[in-house]
Amino acid sequence: MTKVAPSILSADFTRLGQEIQSIETADYLHFDVMDGLFVPNISIGIPVLESVRKVTDMTLDVHLMIDQPHRYTERFANAGADLVVFHLEADAPEDIRMAIRAVHAKGKRVGLAIKPATPAWELIPYLSGIDLALVMTVEPGFGGQRFMEDMLPKVELLRKTIDTEGLNCEIEVDGGINPETAAMCRAAGADVLVAGSDVFHAADRADRIALLRGGTA
Ligand code: DX5
Ligand code: ZN
Repeated sequence: MTKVAPSILSADFTRLGQEIQSIETADYLHFDVMDGLFVPNISIGIPVLESVRKVTDMTLDVHLMIDQPHRYTERFANAGADLVVFHLEADAPEDIRMAIRAVHAKGKRVGLAIKPATPAWELIPYLSGIDLALVMTVEPGFGGQRFMEDMLPKVELLRKTIDTEGLNCEIEVDGGINPETAAMCRAAGADVLVAGSDVFHAADRADRIALLRGGTA
């Protein structure tokens, strides 16, 4: 079954503990970190991650939208991330390789993300050494944007490559996910669907998570 990762960017931060409890039937908790440089917005960071770690056993999927992520990957792993995901565009290839090794050395999973303008083939040389490939389906920086359908061929290409080569790498999509676009992503071969506004604005969040997974609400 497809996994769902609610993004707490759309949560009410004044009551974050309860907000997390309300989505605990999901598979991962998606934690968006923005530095105001790699993306034109600033969100949350290490102290908030440490607090979140204390109140949940969920898999914490930390999406770093920051410049030169190799400077911080180890610190996010120490702060409680289970999965540290960073952008291929944000660092030099040798620093990307170093950051992958640093996260794995901490016993954590690692993911690489690509923005809409980056072709999927650029990820292919890394697939055998990572645990997750994240295809952005909006421009990173803000929740609540419209899904970019033209990103689906990237998911299809990664699915084909991973299956053909028998790799152990999940494909995650992030941005504009709702029941309709979730169905498109599942059909294209995505394993993990990040959803912020769709889950947090739903009347019944657990039902919505089930619906996004592809079950019935
Ligand atoms: C965008 C973030 C997303 C965001 C998704 O830069 O990476 O995780 O929270 O929000 P929705 O689901 O509302 O598009
Ligand atoms: Zn994200």
